[in-house]
Amino acid sequence: MKIHLVGIGGGHPDQVTVQAVEKLRAVDVFIVADKGASVGDLGAARQALLERHHGGSYRVIEVPDPPRDRSPRQYENAVLDWHDARARAYAQVLDGLAEGTVVGFLVWGDPALYDSTIRVVERLAALRDNIEFDVTPGISSVSMLAASHRLVLNRIGGPIVITTGRNLASDVAAGLDNLVVMLDGNLACSALTGTGWGIHWGANLGTVDEKLVAGPLDDVLADIRRSRDDVKATHGWVMDTYLLRRLAG
Ligand SMILES: C[S@@+](CC[C@H](N)C(=O)[O-])C[C@H]1O[C@@H](n2cnc3c(N)ncnc32)[C@H](O)[C@@H]1O
Repeated sequence: MKIHLVGIGGGHPDQVTVQAVEKLRAVDVFIVADKGASVGDLGAARQALLERHHGGSYRVIEVPDPPRDRSPRQYENAVLDWHDARARAYAQVLDGLAEGTVVGFLVWGDPALYDSTIRVVERLAALRDNIEFDVTPGISSVSMLAASHRLVLNRIGGPIVITTGRNLASDVAAGLDNLVVMLDGNLACSALTGTGWGIHWGANLGTVDEKLVAGPLDDVLADIRRSRDDVKATHGWVMDTYLLRRLAG
């Protein structure tokens, strides 16, 4: 059985590459994780994308997402268990499909960045014989953030670290001073006010509801909080990514 993992960018149908469209069109059945009501209009974004780009007949099978232990002490093991549980759930779906069915997984942004689908499908391939899978890159929220703010992420010849809200404090304590932060539902950067940082922030990048704020962190944090709340209230979901850079002097 063939499986295509396809990066679809940040939710706007224009952000899908030609290569991704070709892979999408080859798919008979899309498997998607059903994450319940919390995803707001993300399901609508997926549907718009398939209507615009697939052009043929396909099925979408929603698979209830297994629960995940979110206790901080167990973080890594809990994530691995969750990947295994997802792989088992998907294996059951594959068992019900006809031989030769081409299966697709749509991956938000780029599959290589903070997404578990590749790891889950690797486990799935270990559970069932004759599974071949390939990965099509997508435009990441990191690329979208940089483009929308017309930014180069690295200083000339310098490094850029991509991290999470969970790890931000320890990364800053380790001396990193040019970071992209993802997966930060609590604006971990709030703890850095008064210590000389600049921020380029973006929410729902690549969609018609995109919001951007930039400036010294101390000056713009309140604006970011407000914009975040507004987007969430209007659309039922907000995803944000930001560049944090220590200000010169
Ligand atoms: C599970 S990760 C997925 C990352 C994705 N694979 C990528 O390449 O962008 C989810 C995080 O990606 C970021 N993100 C995804 N889509 C976004 C968007 N449209 N606008 C801003 N940030 C986004 C947010 O930091 C969010 O917490």
